[in-house]
Amino acid sequence: MRTLLYVSVAAVVLCVSYVPPRDENMFVTENFSFAKVQLKNMLAEANTQNETFPRSIDKQGKLVLTDKYEWTSGFFPGSLWYLYDATKDEAIKGEAVKWTEKLQSLQTYTQHHDLGFMMYCSYGNAYRLTGNEAYKNILIKAAQSLSSRFSPKTGSIKSWNGFGSWDAKGRYNFPVIIDNMMNLELLFFASKATGDPTYKNIALSHIEKVIKNQLRPDYSCYHVVCYDSTTGAVLTRETAQGYSNNSVWARGQSWGIYGFTMAYRETGDKRYLTIARKMADFYLDNKELPQDKIAYWDFYANNPGYTPSIKSHAPETPAKFRDASAAAITASALMELSTMIDKNGEKYKQGGVQILHSLGSAVYRAKEGANGNFILKHSVGSIPHGSEIDVPLVYADYYYLEALCRYRDLINKK
Ligand code: GLY
Repeated sequence: MRTLLYVSVAAVVLCVSYVPPRDENMFVTENFSFAKVQLKNMLAEANTQNETFPRSIDKQGKLVLTDKYEWTSGFFPGSLWYLYDATKDEAIKGEAVKWTEKLQSLQTYTQHHDLGFMMYCSYGNAYRLTGNEAYKNILIKAAQSLSSRFSPKTGSIKSWNGFGSWDAKGRYNFPVIIDNMMNLELLFFASKATGDPTYKNIALSHIEKVIKNQLRPDYSCYHVVCYDSTTGAVLTRETAQGYSNNSVWARGQSWGIYGFTMAYRETGDKRYLTIARKMADFYLDNKELPQDKIAYWDFYANNPGYTPSIKSHAPETPAKFRDASAAAITASALMELSTMIDKNGEKYKQGGVQILHSLGSAVYRAKEGANGNFILKHSVGSIPHGSEIDVPLVYADYYYLEALCRYRDLINKK
């Protein structure tokens, strides 16, 4: 009798605490089935356009495409690779190859730092999934091109060629934005692929400067730090896409969480892990984070104590829009971060799972055939520029699919 009681109690405890992986596998599988419909529809349209890459939709709901030099060109090929990763559909693989190879000439492009996004999301996934050596060589060449933007004087990679402050006064020629953390993954790859530490050393130098100059004591971050290119001194800390210079642009925080998680994976440096955790804690524990864990586009948009500079268009947008792209990037980062921590990893996993379920709900996920055939709704490009407000964005979809693949791997881990 007593044994029976113990067995029953154990069964109840198991029922309460154990979520059968099969349900979550079904969640992932259903999302990829949906993604396949959307991406196939999008391919049907994008394949009729010459050399242009899906990015968003306009006010009429029409697909907006860009040329290959825009920072977002690698995300559509990358999304096709994640769809192939999940479905093993050979037709999707063929499209992924075709769309990736449209970017080949970018391997020598040096005009901005986003080459990491453009090439690693496309060719990086292509190499991961095919092992094609030609792709490896293109990635190495791209890493050389990105490295050309490094200055030993500032110890950093120059993100953009120039930055004008929203106050209409400041003009700077060596801006570094937190997003740049993401482009370092290409450099770590190139050092592993070649055995040449030069690329990795550039990444490490850049990271040290981010730690010193871009993080705040509460582990939020400045979006833009501008350096004096002749002395290496910090000239100013501002925002380009956030609400105000002292606020926290949600996607910038997400780039930081993801970037430091990746940097810890690539180096084993525990300081980077601590920063990744604290930046993630800032996001997850923030009292401004809504219950569904999809952040407002800026944690402090429209709050007292935060004032946009004079030329910013932010005051023209009084609504507190969410940014699904920031949430998707964060979810993907949290999936990986949760595997790096012996104890307490569960907090980050659960945070990531909650975000994925919110994004997969009808609130954020489009109806089939709608939303320009993007997967997610409700992202924000740049409210200070007055552009891409509450729209689908190709990078939100990319990181959502990446996060789903990472979640699949977590669920099925032996
Ligand atoms: N890297 C540009 C952005 O996040 O909008």
